[in-house]
Amino acid sequence: MCKWKVTKGASTWFRLSCLSLPLLLLLLCSTLPVACNDIHRAMLAPRGTNSSSSSVVGRHVRSYNHLSGDVRKRKLFSYQKFFLRIDKNGKVNGTKSKDDPYSTLEIKSVEVGIVAIKGIQSNYYLAINKKGVVYGARDFGVDCKLIERIEENRYNTYASAEWRNKKKHMFVGLSANGRPMRAKKTRRKNTATHFLPIPLE
Ligand SMILES: *[C@@H]1O[C@H](CO)[C@@H](O)[C@H](O)[C@H]1NC(C)=O
Ligand SMILES: *[C@@H]1O[C@H](CO)[C@@H](O)[C@H](O)[C@H]1NC(C)=O
Repeated sequence: MCKWKVTKGASTWFRLSCLSLPLLLLLLCSTLPVACNDIHRAMLAPRGTNSSSSSVVGRHVRSYNHLSGDVRKRKLFSYQKFFLRIDKNGKVNGTKSKDDPYSTLEIKSVEVGIVAIKGIQSNYYLAINKKGVVYGARDFGVDCKLIERIEENRYNTYASAEWRNKKKHMFVGLSANGRPMRAKKTRRKNTATHFLPIPLE
């Protein structure tokens, strides 16, 4: 049987122990329109003709294999209202300007749940090194693999897929001044690490 638990103060957020993934995503999407654009698209997208694909079992989506290679053009708008930018020297920081060309990013799925984020103008990848320094990398490498996750407040977090600090995830974060945070100091719950992906056309 299903066990539903409504966490305190958040009537739209359920802990579901037995609902299928698509249903869970639809539930999320009905409450989280922005963050779920991509999920909607992924769920509605044609599956292609690869008959060995395991992504469809009946009507249920079982894996995200078909998302690999999906490219999205986005701005990342931080909880503190900065647009994340990667400039032509590979410097990462925030800007309040909506029109800063360095804040236009390309977010690409490279593995299930893992994305690469590239500044379209600068061609640098958003990266976190072993020491937790957030920087722009000229070439794609392990530092550039980021775990993308939708948090309970609708914002996304981006954690290094490669490096941890004492087994704890290290996140991309912008301080209240729009400066990149040392990822070792970041926490999932800290809103400095929270970003809304804004779709662009
Ligand atoms: C189907 O996809 C799998 C995994 O991506 C790949 O290994 C395989 O070669 C593909 N098959 C065809 C017929 O495209
Ligand atoms: C980000 O860096 C640019 C270029 O160095 C600078 O002009 C801008 O003021 C910085 N933004 C913040 C919020 O510090």
